[in-house]
Amino acid sequence: MEYRSKYSNLNRIHWNERAPVHQKKYVDELVLEVAKDDFTTFDFVEQRLFKKIKLSGKSVAQINCNNARELISVKKAGADRCVGIDISDQFIQQAKALVKASNVEVELVCSDIYELGDAYDNQFDLLYITIGVLGWLENLKAFFDILDKLLKPGGQIFMYEMHPILELFEEDSGSKIVNDYFNSELYVEENERDYFDYNAIIKSPSYWFHHPMSEIFENVINHGFHITHFDEYAHDISGGGEFLSTQENRPPMCFSLIATKAGGK
Ligand SMILES: C[S@@+](CC[C@H](N)C(=O)[O-])C[C@H]1O[C@@H](n2cnc3c(N)ncnc32)[C@H](O)[C@@H]1O
Repeated sequence: MEYRSKYSNLNRIHWNERAPVHQKKYVDELVLEVAKDDFTTFDFVEQRLFKKIKLSGKSVAQINCNNARELISVKKAGADRCVGIDISDQFIQQAKALVKASNVEVELVCSDIYELGDAYDNQFDLLYITIGVLGWLENLKAFFDILDKLLKPGGQIFMYEMHPILELFEEDSGSKIVNDYFNSELYVEENERDYFDYNAIIKSPSYWFHHPMSEIFENVINHGFHITHFDEYAHDISGGGEFLSTQENRPPMCFSLIATKAGGK
């Protein structure tokens, strides 16, 4: 039976409030950028890893794709079918405008990932999960069940995520540890500053779930995926942790993980 989270719709309201802020802050300009043939959002980690695992000819789904700018990069880098899934109707609207401006074909689906159903089962060679996805998901086991269903045999999960250890540090300065790594309590935040526009306050609450690395690995392993790559980095991809990456003694700020489903050629 499908898993349902009472927090998904609340987070949809939160993300819908962010959409016009992002539109004004950078998407108006991005519309011109995405039209270029060489448009890319990939940083040095993604450049290196995609070179290794190759995008060419692959069917790719981006889970929680936001405005699809990253998926447009995937398509422009040679992927075949590309499908973006996100719960926010406002970000899906933004994604549609960016896809139109980019002159590439990307399918967009507005859905809670937990309620996607079976229409996309067994269709993808690669699932792209990047920067701020896991924390919105209450139940990782149910999430990995869905990833497993979406992938063809031999398909891969490509994850480039914020490191869960970041949640320990005080947000503005990073100067002290204020949360327990092993506390799995829900984080509820109201009147948050937006990560693209620090002057914009997002009033509606967000509901965020801390998943330690052990829980992520547990789910990858228990679902029978074979880990072919894992790395940790000292640079910030969250847009809110620069203070930590410039300190002398640094925590890991993000990680990359590639895991393969059994079967395939
Ligand atoms: C920080 S973005 C991550 C996407 C992308 N890497 C980016 O940086 O724009 C998080 C996205 O997750 C989406 N989201 C949150 N909960 C979701 C859910 N249950 N199902 C599908 N999408 C969800 C939000 O609407 C938002 O667009």
